[in-house]
Amino acid sequence: MYLGLDLGTSGVKALLIDDKQSVIGSGTGSLDVSRPHSGWSEQDPAHWIGATEDAIAALKASHPKELAAVKGIGLSGQMHGATLLDGNDGVLRPCMLWNDTRSHAEAAELDGNPIFRALSGNIVFPGFTAPKVMWVKNNEPEIFAKLRRVLLPKDYLRLWLTGEHVSEMSDAAGTSWLDVGKRAWSDELLGASGLDRSHMPSLVEGTAVSGTLKAGLAARWGMGNGVVVAGGAGDNAASACGMGTVAEGHAFVSLGTSGVLFAANNAYLPNPASAVHTFCHALPDTWHQMGVILSATDALNWYAGITARKPAELTGELGDTLRAPSGVTFLPYLSGERTPHNDSAIRGSFQGLEHASDRASLTQAVLEGVAFAFRDCLHALASAGTRLDRVTAVGGGSRSIYWLKTIATALGIPVDIPADGDFGAAFGAARLGLIAAENADPRAICTQPATEKTIEPDKGLTADFDAAYRRYHNLYPALKGVQS
Ligand code: XUL
Repeated sequence: MYLGLDLGTSGVKALLIDDKQSVIGSGTGSLDVSRPHSGWSEQDPAHWIGATEDAIAALKASHPKELAAVKGIGLSGQMHGATLLDGNDGVLRPCMLWNDTRSHAEAAELDGNPIFRALSGNIVFPGFTAPKVMWVKNNEPEIFAKLRRVLLPKDYLRLWLTGEHVSEMSDAAGTSWLDVGKRAWSDELLGASGLDRSHMPSLVEGTAVSGTLKAGLAARWGMGNGVVVAGGAGDNAASACGMGTVAEGHAFVSLGTSGVLFAANNAYLPNPASAVHTFCHALPDTWHQMGVILSATDALNWYAGITARKPAELTGELGDTLRAPSGVTFLPYLSGERTPHNDSAIRGSFQGLEHASDRASLTQAVLEGVAFAFRDCLHALASAGTRLDRVTAVGGGSRSIYWLKTIATALGIPVDIPADGDFGAAFGAARLGLIAAENADPRAICTQPATEKTIEPDKGLTADFDAAYRRYHNLYPALKGVQS
């Protein structure tokens, strides 16, 4: 048995697979995000441990024998968060998460230093780790003075599981401190942030062993000694391992809290100017590109909150047949945006409201707005040299067929739905646990699921969607004019 642990933004998922990679069971624990000020987004690392304990307790209750047979654990996690530790591994402040944009001034300053784009291959986005640490240096100097180690969220979980300070390439690539082409910490980038290698965990590949589970935890969960913990991956690379998106030409669209258009690459192909992210993949010697939007299901969940309806109820109200855009346009910039704008100050908008605009037409606009944000990402990936001719859908939002029809038509490419199963980040993490424990061939394990169904673009609505996309596209500069 192998266990995948995915530390997401809204919860932790623990998923068990057997040596044939069949899913045996899963458990979850939930997490909240604290937003004390506009643009802030934080979590207490102690809650990650609590949610992991809950997720594993649920698995222990449903599958005690199988849990006891675990030989390898893989970790996946929300990327970029800055978990700041003192010399005794004590947490110095709440973790600033991937969608926390308070450090925009520090990000712009680091990004203005050409070595960052040259070595890290990416814009220094405000959500990345380095500018957050700079924000702490500028605004909480007493905390910065005590800082001895910076860990990414899932690597803090690893510290709790194994006692080791270790990260891996895919997540480390999102810190702005990794030389992404060389797959090594960059002394130059660390130095430019007032840090050095002593502040960093050591690095392994996602498929390699990073440590073994502490005896106390193993005993509590009924496991034996010597359970291996793999490097694992950032949640997007972990999902890619779950989906078999590990070779050139394969891509997925992920509808999670954030939205991601992800393409696997056999080589390192940086193009920071396009606002595309170029990171190491979890498999040795592979990289990937992705366009990232900050609010995907987060946008629908926000609208569900204010209409006091469940997201599935809202999408259900639209029926099965794709509708032409109603003339209401939604910009999903609730936390600002990364690809293609790199704009932490921009905020969302409904435009074109009229008396006939009802709850359903606004739901439709939210789904379309997110789909058009993916169309922006598709263009950004194309300008970075990656043209996609189809994508596979993953993530909680992909349960809405209406949303997938909207995305297929907005992007003008087919969207594949994998055959029933759980191929997300926790599954990818479990695969990495298996590879590390058995020294297995990663490509033999990270295969693609069968496609159950393909959603083709609705050609009859292409012209309407093109016109709606033009309205969407023209709104950003107009909004920027009034919001700044
Ligand atoms: C990727 C990113 C998000 C988080 C979500 O750059 O910030 O997709 O990983 O957990």
